[in-house]
Amino acid sequence: MLEPRLDPADAEAVFHSQALKREIKRIQGIIERFSHLTRALPVQRQPIDLPRFFADLRSAWAGLGNGLQVSVDLEPGTVLASDRELLAQVLDNIVRNAAESGAGHVAIRLRRHKGAVEITVGDDGPGIPAEQLKSIFDPFVSFKPSGSGIGLALARRIVTRLGGRIEATSVPGQGAEFTVVL
Ligand SMILES: Nc1ncnc2c1ncn2[C@@H]1O[C@H](COP(=O)(O)OP(=O)(O)OP(=O)(O)O)[C@@H](O)[C@H]1O
Ligand SMILES: [Mg+2]
Repeated sequence: MLEPRLDPADAEAVFHSQALKREIKRIQGIIERFSHLTRALPVQRQPIDLPRFFADLRSAWAGLGNGLQVSVDLEPGTVLASDRELLAQVLDNIVRNAAESGAGHVAIRLRRHKGAVEITVGDDGPGIPAEQLKSIFDPFVSFKPSGSGIGLALARRIVTRLGGRIEATSVPGQGAEFTVVL
């Protein structure tokens, strides 16, 4: 947009123009994610083919880079009827955070629990200090230099919409664990 008018020899102008473009892209991303936080959430509940669901997610997570390993432990016979896309978004936000924290391994477990399905997502990253843990699900709370604080607020909104709950625990230095009960 700007570059064709710039003198390519003017390295400083090109540098600033590129920085501006990156900034515009970042802000566009925030606006798009923000709109997810406020948009209506129509729910389409249907039986989820869990092995396939996790196979698809794991191949998407393989693209996150930094060699993150994601293991999935499905208790045999676990059945879940929920909204596939919304649940995928919740798990994706949780796993992305683990990757961004520097974790090398994420362990996902599905269990039947008192007539519900409990999904735990544990990582081996640095964990979350107790004073931060209180607010991580609040919108726009981020402890990252360039985070927008939308991921977990959206995850909580979706899980509530699906009739479930989400919680986090952490022993700093020993990783974080998120539990979604549906
Ligand atoms: N697995 C984790 N390990 C360590 N800290 C975490 C983990 N998950 C979440 N957090 C902390 O919780 C905060 C809130 O997470 P959330 O996903 O809502 O926002 P974000 O990742 O900072 O920004 P966004 O998701 O919008 O890109 C993060 O900034 C981070 O400090
Ligand atoms: Mg996030």
